[in-house]
Amino acid sequence: MRIGILNSGGDCPGLNAVIHGVVGAAHTHGWEVVGFRDGFEGMLPPGDYMLLDPSRTVGITKLGGTILGTTNKGHFVAKIGEGNVSEVPHEIVEKAKATLRHLEIGALIVVGGDGSLTTALQLYNMGVPVIGVPKTIDNDIQATAMTFGFDSAVHAVVDALDRLHTTAESHKRAIVLEVMGRHAGWIALYGGMAGGADVILLPEIPFKMEHVADAIRQRDARGHHSTLVVVAEGARMETGELLKKETVGGKGEDRLGGIGDYVAKKIEDMTGKETRACTLGHLQRGGAPTALDRILGVRFGAMAVSLIEQGKFGRMVSYQQYQVGDVSIEEAVNQLRLVKSDSEIVNAGRSIGICFGDRPV
Ligand code: F6P
Repeated sequence: MRIGILNSGGDCPGLNAVIHGVVGAAHTHGWEVVGFRDGFEGMLPPGDYMLLDPSRTVGITKLGGTILGTTNKGHFVAKIGEGNVSEVPHEIVEKAKATLRHLEIGALIVVGGDGSLTTALQLYNMGVPVIGVPKTIDNDIQATAMTFGFDSAVHAVVDALDRLHTTAESHKRAIVLEVMGRHAGWIALYGGMAGGADVILLPEIPFKMEHVADAIRQRDARGHHSTLVVVAEGARMETGELLKKETVGGKGEDRLGGIGDYVAKKIEDMTGKETRACTLGHLQRGGAPTALDRILGVRFGAMAVSLIEQGKFGRMVSYQQYQVGDVSIEEAVNQLRLVKSDSEIVNAGRSIGICFGDRPV
């Protein structure tokens, strides 16, 4: 048997651990592994791939990024969101199938986020024996309690906050740290709580600047002259005031000044407090994975091979209640897990005085 593997979408710490898990488990079965380069694009004829044997993957678990390369552009991007799912053109899928036939690949493992898994589902529905592995630093796929990469991203946020804390305190400033998270605020929430942020602003909890400014004034009155604010790139104000292109955090070329800069400016205007903004950006996606993400990646890879062995195609690896198992890809896609404003973790934050900007502290 020969297995194909590809990763697609943004890179993520732990991807190489998945590859290591797949290659190791496949080798135990006496199976070969072919790794496609640059996501689904590598399957286009004549095929851009490398043979992965254990000698090729030794020591890669500790590396960030992916040895296969990846892309979130190209011929296989299915448009999702707002209930709309557009398909990859069938002739493109047929070309990929021809490559798989040519290479005699009996199963394909797709490691990707929601969009890539949607493409994987289409391939499965068009006759490709597919196994999905969820990948997102945002940790927002409903069907799995955790994805590799998230813990590494949170560690990067905590490290940044630890550094910002000392300079903010020395200068009695407010410092706003903008982190990733367009739809879900898990990185901001976990990173902010672990890093001792005083204000955390999330896409799921629309905020008012008055509440943020009040929280900072109150801190000053109590003798705490520095404040750390964490804001997710997708955070929104209750008023919708941020829905102007030049002030909205967003992706790539659309981004002409993020929400972090906006919040910092407002804080300075409203409180008179000297304020600085800092955008963590891709520093939270690059670099070595944490031990947790390495282990999770290896387990996900091993489970993907086990699902192939059981013939459970059309399934996605999933982590639930401390166990790695599987769910159907169809049930997993287009289902985001979002922070709830009345959840235990948010209430824990509120109870220790963290301002979420939706009400007075
Ligand atoms: O979806 C993961 C993510 O890291 C988002 O949090 C962020 O908005 C986006 O990717 C950045 O993507 P790109 O690398 O294309 O700028």
